[in-house]
Amino acid sequence: MDDSRETFVNHAFVAGYPIRHSRSPVIHGYWLKNLNLQGSYRTIEVTPDKFSDFISDLKSGTSGFKGGNITIPHKEAAFALADRPDDIASEIGAANTLWLEDGLVHATNTDGIGFTANLDALAPGWHRVETAVILGAGGASRAVIQSVRDRGVKTIHVLNRTVSRARELADRFGPAVHAQSLEALREVMSGAGLLINTTSLGMDGGEVPDLDFSSMRTDAVVTDIVYVPLKTPILRQAEAQGLRIVDGLGMLLHQAVPGFEKWFGRRPVVDAALRQLIIDDMAAHA
Ligand code: ATR
Repeated sequence: MDDSRETFVNHAFVAGYPIRHSRSPVIHGYWLKNLNLQGSYRTIEVTPDKFSDFISDLKSGTSGFKGGNITIPHKEAAFALADRPDDIASEIGAANTLWLEDGLVHATNTDGIGFTANLDALAPGWHRVETAVILGAGGASRAVIQSVRDRGVKTIHVLNRTVSRARELADRFGPAVHAQSLEALREVMSGAGLLINTTSLGMDGGEVPDLDFSSMRTDAVVTDIVYVPLKTPILRQAEAQGLRIVDGLGMLLHQAVPGFEKWFGRRPVVDAALRQLIIDDMAAHA
């Protein structure tokens, strides 16, 4: 083997609390095996009071990790403690991917890349719309708002049960973003070409109000970042009314790509076999 990158064995982690439900080890394990790399990727449960020590150990090299993923509830702390957060993480105020470079902890947020790569793969042209509607103003909606704006959508309505949270995000992400209450849904859907659910509505099969998609563009795309169940009640309704739908599993898979490349030096591919592996894993642990 003449590729010098192969001589390094790198190790990566996903840190969170709780962490046992993370599917990231399955994703990265699949790529390590398929690319025939020697590295490892494992879950580490880190309680909030220990998180800053965890980052210190990463930085000093004592933990032996090249980097890793950060999940709930540490994404904001990871951003705050990183030496070099990039512009994407800085605007969101949260990081999900860390890597060591020249003794410094670098940080980014790959949720937006995951979101757009999933739509690019399954609904090409999705961003060529005037108006998008985003349901929810929680942590997960930030990367979605940022990436929809950065792909050029001019009018983005963010609807939230608690309108003040939507207003905070409109202030953060600029004049393309308009905060609304959920009552505005009917009005803002009219003529919109994209609808994204980022709320926990419909998660694990929970109840969702009946939605009428008929005023949206006939070629509109409806997507959900929730992927349990794969076809959420919102996606089911949209599909029944003839709209294009994209489920949220691809976002999970695609957001993992940049981290893997940073830690292990090879750019992995999201393929049908990986998707099926995660679907099988979800079924096994349902
Ligand atoms: P995450 O970080 O995963 O986005 P979160 O910050 O708890 O999680 O946000 C969850 C989102 O789902 C919020 O937009 C929340 O609305 P509020 O900000 O008003 O809490 C939304 N949500 C949760 N349950 C909801 C419900 N039953 N009806 C409407 N919105 C709901």
